[in-house]
Amino acid sequence: MPTVVFVNEGKAGIVPSGTTLLRAAVDLGVHISHVCGGNGICSTCRVEVVAGGENLTAINPQEIAYDLGSGRRLGCQARVLGNVGVRVLMVPKVEMD
Ligand code: FES
Repeated sequence: MPTVVFVNEGKAGIVPSGTTLLRAAVDLGVHISHVCGGNGICSTCRVEVVAGGENLTAINPQEIAYDLGSGRRLGCQARVLGNVGVRVLMVPKVEMD
């Protein structure tokens, strides 16, 4: 199973292949905004991929619509297929879980 590293908080964990970066973050206790609850319509879950970008699923239409920029993904849309390291770009002011 793949390892996901969240470099902001120095947290890492092993997740089942196909897990979204958002799900991995929440399960590991990483602070990450996700205002729409993971439905791909708010873009607050965006992350910067710092390693292993090739180990994520292909960019999907929701991500293309947000024009996130090079190396940036929506945490709720990008699924982990292999080892990856990311940096959370928006930390919530209030936890919503
Ligand atoms: S949580 Fe809203 S786009 Fe990902």
